[in-house]
Amino acid sequence: MTERFNQVAHAWDNGDIRQNIAQNIFQTITSRIALFNHMTIMDFGAGTGLLSFKIAPMVKNVVAVDLSTKMLEQLENKNSINLSVKAICQNICKEALDQQFHGIVSSMAMHHVENTEELFKAFHAHLKRDGFIAIADLEAEDGTFHAHGNDGVYHFGFKRDALRQTIENAGFEHVRFHHAYTVEKERQNYPIFLVTATKKS
Ligand SMILES: C[S@@+](CC[C@H](N)C(=O)[O-])C[C@H]1O[C@@H](n2cnc3c(N)ncnc32)[C@H](O)[C@@H]1O
Repeated sequence: MTERFNQVAHAWDNGDIRQNIAQNIFQTITSRIALFNHMTIMDFGAGTGLLSFKIAPMVKNVVAVDLSTKMLEQLENKNSINLSVKAICQNICKEALDQQFHGIVSSMAMHHVENTEELFKAFHAHLKRDGFIAIADLEAEDGTFHAHGNDGVYHFGFKRDALRQTIENAGFEHVRFHHAYTVEKERQNYPIFLVTATKKS
């Protein structure tokens, strides 16, 4: 999985599809969650930072977590004196960061993580009291979304009811699903949800 993202990293930002996905997820996040300039935010599976750099101007700082060094290299190339995102290459399910966040955002990364239960427990552990998650991914699909094959794809999207249960079991409340965007391909449309929740105190 990591090797696959390393190989495509240099061209990840090309074209409109991923830019449109990130832009619409960003708009859905900001329409549902108030971001403030004292906040520290994790972007999980941040890749080249398409979402991170939209969030960064609104908060104190964004930490981009990913397993692909090449995707993170592309992200770091976008850093400037005026706006920067910190990149960390680490599996947070196996080794926790030494930091807790006001919120965790994510765009299209969760279907690449095999154990969703473990992932939401890791999110819970990385949040401050009353912290939020805002996680976007595909609604359940038939396995045709990834035109190049499903290597490293552990979930063909997610069924909302099952995911809600997983999130609540990990210690979150106020779980809400929102429609974020629909990717229109030649033969089929693929809706993307944003799920938001807060850490139960
Ligand atoms: C489909 S890309 C999305 C990248 C970016 N969020 C975007 O919207 O353009 C999925 C990203 O998740 C990363 N990823 C997959 N599993 C991960 C894990 N367990 N921890 C951190 N990152 C992971 C991949 O390396 C890849 O960069």
